[in-house]
Amino acid sequence: MVVEDYRTPPVTAGDITNKRMLGGEERETMVSLFLLCQHVREALLLQGQCLKRMAITPLDQTTFQNAYSGEAPAWEIPTPQKALVAVADQIHGTLLDSGCGTGENALFFAARGCTVTGYDFVPDAIQRAASKAQERGIAATFLVKDGLTLGDWDEQFDNIIDSGVFHVFSDEDAARYVMGLAHVLKPGGRLFLICFSDAEPGLQGPRRISKQMLHDRFQEGWTVESVTPSNYNVRPEYDGSRYSAGGPKAWFAIIRKKSFESKP
Ligand SMILES: C[S@@+](CC[C@H](N)C(=O)[O-])C[C@H]1O[C@@H](n2cnc3c(N)ncnc32)[C@H](O)[C@@H]1O
Repeated sequence: MVVEDYRTPPVTAGDITNKRMLGGEERETMVSLFLLCQHVREALLLQGQCLKRMAITPLDQTTFQNAYSGEAPAWEIPTPQKALVAVADQIHGTLLDSGCGTGENALFFAARGCTVTGYDFVPDAIQRAASKAQERGIAATFLVKDGLTLGDWDEQFDNIIDSGVFHVFSDEDAARYVMGLAHVLKPGGRLFLICFSDAEPGLQGPRRISKQMLHDRFQEGWTVESVTPSNYNVRPEYDGSRYSAGGPKAWFAIIRKKSFESKP
């Protein structure tokens, strides 16, 4: 019997065929097994690459338009996100709801006295948000806008909420989006952000975001005050079936725009 210790270099097909103690048949079996393992390893690597690519596929406007024209999408719930409700006492003054969808979070804060503007790039969603505001007698402004053009705005807000939007962007678009957020947030203002976390298993829904990605993306000109594990609330039919029980595992981040631009 050959006992290999930890210093033994990786085995190759040649090593196996050279071991004299193996008979012809044994040798063939070992080589076949070795080649099979190589194929399996390559297949797994390829699969890993495909899964990684799928996991960062950005979600475009057509995808969201379609989502709003079919059955209610997973995120369209009749209540504000619990993570936002939990910090509501910290949010006063003007508020931008970035990618507001049909406006539940925006309307919650407007009803509490904030001056709220919600925007989304899907006109149907904005129309529904505006109708809800009218039905409930709540004053709020809803606009059709693209989050990748925030740099063109000339208004600034005390607070921004982002509930499920940051995670729809590719790395490149996320960088542009974050620059836009900085443009529309007052110095010292805070961003309250909920996104899918990398602890959420599977590939359903948007890309998964790691804590490190948040720190990396909000490095310059921002202070990441906290990033805590949370859940993104979804419709009951998706809760615990398509996603983890309690809603997809999420990060809830509170991020402050620095009051001054630090000089290089
Ligand atoms: C997961 S939904 C969340 C909706 C809402 N914030 C909520 O929590 O119910 C993401 C929203 O972001 C919007 N969105 C995605 N990319 C956008 C962009 N580039 N500009 C504006 N809205 C965008 C989508 O239309 C959709 O309404």
